[in-house]
Amino acid sequence: MDAKPDGGRDPGRPLKILAFIGSPRNEESWTWQIVTRIEAQMQALQPTEVEYVFLQKVGVPFCDGCLTCVNVGESACPEYATIGPIAAKMDEADGLILGAPVHTFAVTGLMKNFVEYFMYKRNRPSFFGKKAIVTATASGGGHTQVLDFLEGTATAWGCDVVTRLGVSSSQMKKPHYVEKVDACVREVAEVFVSEINKGELGSPKFPALMNFRAMQNMARRQPDSVNHRYWTERGWFDKEYYTDVPINPWARMMAGYIARKMRRSIRKGNTKPIR
Ligand SMILES: Cc1cc2nc3c(=O)[nH]c(=O)nc-3n(C[C@H](O)[C@H](O)[C@H](O)COP(=O)(O)O)c2cc1C
Repeated sequence: MDAKPDGGRDPGRPLKILAFIGSPRNEESWTWQIVTRIEAQMQALQPTEVEYVFLQKVGVPFCDGCLTCVNVGESACPEYATIGPIAAKMDEADGLILGAPVHTFAVTGLMKNFVEYFMYKRNRPSFFGKKAIVTATASGGGHTQVLDFLEGTATAWGCDVVTRLGVSSSQMKKPHYVEKVDACVREVAEVFVSEINKGELGSPKFPALMNFRAMQNMARRQPDSVNHRYWTERGWFDKEYYTDVPINPWARMMAGYIARKMRRSIRKGNTKPIR
């Protein structure tokens, strides 16, 4: 069943958060340190249970690109015995945290490989109303690339990414920088907790609308497929976004216009190689 914001989360139970650590340095990593600081701040606001998934310890091999998850179904993935239980935990969580360091100005191979196993969720998203935050650490630069990637990934799964945080690990020896990080950590925790409690659907930003349109175009061209059935059952072929949340009219119009152009050019075989 698709996740839905019920706004009626049992206030008596702790918040359930699943945190993915995409650093090969596991509990030694800055990524883990930052996420545990966020956890501590969340705990100060409300009882919170964070389960950590260290991607290096998950130990899945490189995704072999068979696309069975997309074309046949997620349970047909050769690594489903490992990925399936993690997906079930994601379903149950009130919120997700995706954290990774910057390696060569990009997300780590570890995180990239992990999210490849969830390609089906970009085609058949279900986490609507589930809140997520993303975090990246780098000694110098590349935070934005990684934060954008993590935000785009969680958004494509249906999550509302409510805030993000990039930290320069090389600055963490300087007390005045640590103070600033701590202030940001507090703010991130407050936003995350408050958005989970509100339980409202977030309004999609323009890239999320474009992603919806791209997926819509793709699913349309796959009759008799798992994706087509999923989209038909939800009435998404006639929609402008997955959910009925109000959308900025300008962004909605632009996304519709670009999607129609894309569709026409694909139909006519007018697409050009990318240079
Ligand atoms: C293979 C490799 C590539 C890296 N590339 C970058 C980079 O492009 N930009 C940067 O600022 N730091 C880079 N770093 C430094 C890490 O991003 C930095 O130390 C980070 O805080 C490590 O996080 P972690 O402790 O969570 O693993 C790189 C480190 C490694 C091991």
